[in-house]
Amino acid sequence: MDVLRKKRIVLGVTGSIAAYKAAAFASSLKQHGANVDVILTKNAERFITPLTFQTLTGRKAFTDADLWGEFGHEIPIEVGHDADLIIIAPCTSNTIAKLNHGISDNLLTLVCTTASCPILIAPAMDIAMYDNKVLQSNLRELVNRGVKTLGPLDGQLSYGVSAVGRMMETTEILNFTRYFLSRDKKLKGKKFIVTVGGTKEYIDPIRFITNRSTGQQGYEIAQAAMDMGADVILITTIEARKVPYGAEVIHVNTAEEMKQAVLNRVNEADVLIMAADVSDFRPKNIHKHKIKKGKDLPNIELEFTDDILSAVSELKSKSDYPLVTVGFAAESRNMLDNANQKLNSKRLDMIVANNILTEDEAYDPDFNRVTILYAGGEVEPFDLMGKYDISVVILERIIQRL
Ligand SMILES: Cc1cc2nc3c(=O)[nH]c(=O)nc-3n(C[C@H](O)[C@H](O)[C@H](O)COP(=O)(O)O)c2cc1C
Repeated sequence: MDVLRKKRIVLGVTGSIAAYKAAAFASSLKQHGANVDVILTKNAERFITPLTFQTLTGRKAFTDADLWGEFGHEIPIEVGHDADLIIIAPCTSNTIAKLNHGISDNLLTLVCTTASCPILIAPAMDIAMYDNKVLQSNLRELVNRGVKTLGPLDGQLSYGVSAVGRMMETTEILNFTRYFLSRDKKLKGKKFIVTVGGTKEYIDPIRFITNRSTGQQGYEIAQAAMDMGADVILITTIEARKVPYGAEVIHVNTAEEMKQAVLNRVNEADVLIMAADVSDFRPKNIHKHKIKKGKDLPNIELEFTDDILSAVSELKSKSDYPLVTVGFAAESRNMLDNANQKLNSKRLDMIVANNILTEDEAYDPDFNRVTILYAGGEVEPFDLMGKYDISVVILERIIQRL
């Protein structure tokens, strides 16, 4: 259910040294299932060939020769008319000026002036061009007219200087495109809180108790919810991972911090998905200094952490929010009984259970085998599936309950 699947994207490529990056971008759009029509300006062809794009997209890449060719009168209509989105990456100062003034003296700018879909541009140029007042005024006017500008970034430019002008990374343009195209989907206007990762319960300043959670399932849920149009708050213990574009992120470490973060925001959430592995216990006292190795083993006394879902269930009895609460149960035995007990005691709407000791165990990075239990007693087992696909199923079941 990739947002980009079957989308018609026109990728405009202009005469910037960053044109080579457009090849990787075209390829990743194609891998996400988009139909990519590339249009190169005459000056883009000095940097990269249509053949590169044709090979990567499996479709004809257009140039100005096509505009003046046998079917020139049809191309702007054929390519531009049905496009869902036009992305110009890289976009030169020259093409920005043309777009702003409605100049349509090449195929790309002609398509832009006739198409009715949104236009995204990723400017790339050296700092002197970027600082130019005419360029700045052109950009401002384009933005005011609804053209979305991505970057440029502060970074290494082609001639070795570090300054503003570098084209936004194509992975980021792709993430933004995914977000942009998802905003009108069926979860539009719905707010989700998704908790992710294993909590860290500190023993001393550098040691802590944690678990094997990778956070993969939670991140896939967050991404899938965004792809369906939701606004997502991700409360996560994982710092190294890239967050889905457009999600609000709250970093936490301990169960207590996660509880506070959830309780602070849950009254604005339509849906709470507790995909985090929250520790049930923690050291009673955190040593101020690193525990030194001595003759005797340290005696680490434990205490229970607060149960986040029980605290949410108490709030819900007063405010009605969240409308739907979903828990996870990673069990090593009696999976259904334990999950059912958790579903009822925490008054959840759904619980997603999995057995962590099976071969396709829960901490496999990409796949899982889950069973969903619903308030009311229904139990729905699933085959081994990719974690993104599981997320889509979970979200569809949530939608039925919103
Ligand atoms: C080697 C080289 C690199 C260039 N890089 C850029 C660039 O990054 N950004 C830009 O705005 N112009 C750049 N230019 C200038 C444009 O190619 C020039 O303005 C051209 O007319 C743009 O045409 P187009 O917008 O139709 O592709 C570069 C020119 C050369 C010769």
